Amino acid sequence: MTVVESTTQVTLGGARGGPDLPTLREDRWWIQPVVTVSILTAFVIYSTWAAFQNRFYAVGYTTDSLFGKAHELISPFYSPCLTTHCDAGSIGFHIGTASWLSPALLILIFPLGFRMTCYYYRRSYYRAFWWAPPACAVSDAHASYSGETRFPLIIQNVHRYFFYFGLVFNALLTYDAVRSFHMVGGGGWGVSVGAIVLSINATLLWLYSLSCHACRHLCGGQVKSFKEHPIRHKLWKFVTPLNAKHMQFAWISLFFVAFTDIYVRLVASGAWTDFKLF
Ligand code: FES
Repeated sequence: MTVVESTTQVTLGGARGGPDLPTLREDRWWIQPVVTVSILTAFVIYSTWAAFQNRFYAVGYTTDSLFGKAHELISPFYSPCLTTHCDAGSIGFHIGTASWLSPALLILIFPLGFRMTCYYYRRSYYRAFWWAPPACAVSDAHASYSGETRFPLIIQNVHRYFFYFGLVFNALLTYDAVRSFHMVGGGGWGVSVGAIVLSINATLLWLYSLSCHACRHLCGGQVKSFKEHPIRHKLWKFVTPLNAKHMQFAWISLFFVAFTDIYVRLVASGAWTDFKLF
């Protein structure tokens, strides 16, 4: 058998000192950026549309001793519902009164800010949208690279603060999930498909938050000796395996939060019935 060897001359001098060629890769490296662009663009379009709808975001309500009136099912895009025109005034205080103001617009900055500044999503959208670089061993689309050292990307460093806000939202969505097991119309406690959907959504968002790199750093970062910090060591050991699956939790929770909004929207508009299992 004859082995034919070929060589490709490259000149070093591309962005970040790489070869002065787009790439030497012959596989379909572009598939991942294209998929990422498609999914994130679809999510942004859908969530923007849903946030401006200002209707069909909640189903039913009951009286609740903690927060006053509470919805049975509420979209995660609209919780906590902070305007006076929320279907049942789900929470005890309101910061928006105009009827045209969608409650989602008052809160989405926090969950969206958490996702936009996520280390994993940053890697994904820097590659997919900015091509900096688009894939391993593929040249940058830009002549220079300044990383996250300048405005606006230096703002990404606020991620840890969005993480704290994210925990508050997770607690509120968990509350919504628990309340969703209370049936409308004095039916007591029970299980409906919607209650299961809200519960899965809250669980996935907890997993996404607990697997966050900022969370792992909070648990075990800057600790010189775990022997002297046994509780932090336990927390660090708990979140480390979750952290290894952060990418999976990022995508699954993104899909499911949109699905949860769609489910509540379909039930609230009358297009779908929230079937009670028992
Ligand atoms: S790194 Fe992804 S949510 Fe913090």
